[in-house]
Amino acid sequence: MMLFTAVASLLLAGSTWAQSTPAGFTPAVNQTLDVYYGTTFITPGLMVKKSATQRAPTIGVTNVTLTGKYLLAMIGSGDAKKRRTVLHALLQDYTPSGQTQNGTSVLTTRATTPSSYFGPAPPAENPLHPHNYVFLLHEQPANFAVPAAHRSAVQSRFDIDWPKFITDAGLKAPLYANYLRVQSGDNTKMFQA
Ligand SMILES: *[C@@H]1O[C@H](CO)[C@@H](O)[C@H](O)[C@H]1NC(C)=O
Ligand SMILES: *[C@@H]1O[C@H](CO)[C@@H](O)[C@H](O)[C@H]1NC(C)=O
Ligand SMILES: *[C@@H]1O[C@H](CO)[C@@H](O)[C@H](O)[C@H]1NC(C)=O
Repeated sequence: MMLFTAVASLLLAGSTWAQSTPAGFTPAVNQTLDVYYGTTFITPGLMVKKSATQRAPTIGVTNVTLTGKYLLAMIGSGDAKKRRTVLHALLQDYTPSGQTQNGTSVLTTRATTPSSYFGPAPPAENPLHPHNYVFLLHEQPANFAVPAAHRSAVQSRFDIDWPKFITDAGLKAPLYANYLRVQSGDNTKMFQA
């Protein structure tokens, strides 16, 4: 029992140090954003089916009372250097909804801009290769706008340089992050015709 308790507290302590962003991803974040696709709770790095991710997730935080507005970015990044980043969402005006899900204080937005949610769709590859999809939650500054230098990347969704975006848009470091993985060429469909 003592040993079990010691191991359990080590595991708990370990989880608070764990990185919420993939190894090598910049910016690195330690605090985990709660992300749910339906009832599926995403722990950082969880491998999920493409079909489970085609509608925008529910997001929020645990044990923290947030106020103000937040900006969510979702960035797809292959592990190989040649892969381009893909902006899967950039959604502004998240605010605390007052609702909870599984202890999570849920944040919601009505905004579909600057870039609406677009679910993971990793290309087929040989050998198979999981792609990372990283969520970053930032405080949203007053009068937030996409900086001119990033408008074409936000519009095309290709090659977003998030560290540079942070600087140019006057954002602080992200508060929370999380990521999931989808296997290359996963073309599972939610509904069979
Ligand atoms: C995350 O936590 C580790 C261990 O406490 C620390 O070394 C690292 O600097 C932290 N990283 C960030 C981005 O806060
Ligand atoms: C509820 O949240 C905990 C972490 O706080 C997680 O381990 C668990 O899987 C979640 N359960 C559901 C049903 O979302
Ligand atoms: C939230 O706080 C409770 C009570 O202090 C604690 O047991 C729990 O582990 C915390 N959950 C998270 C995800 O930090």
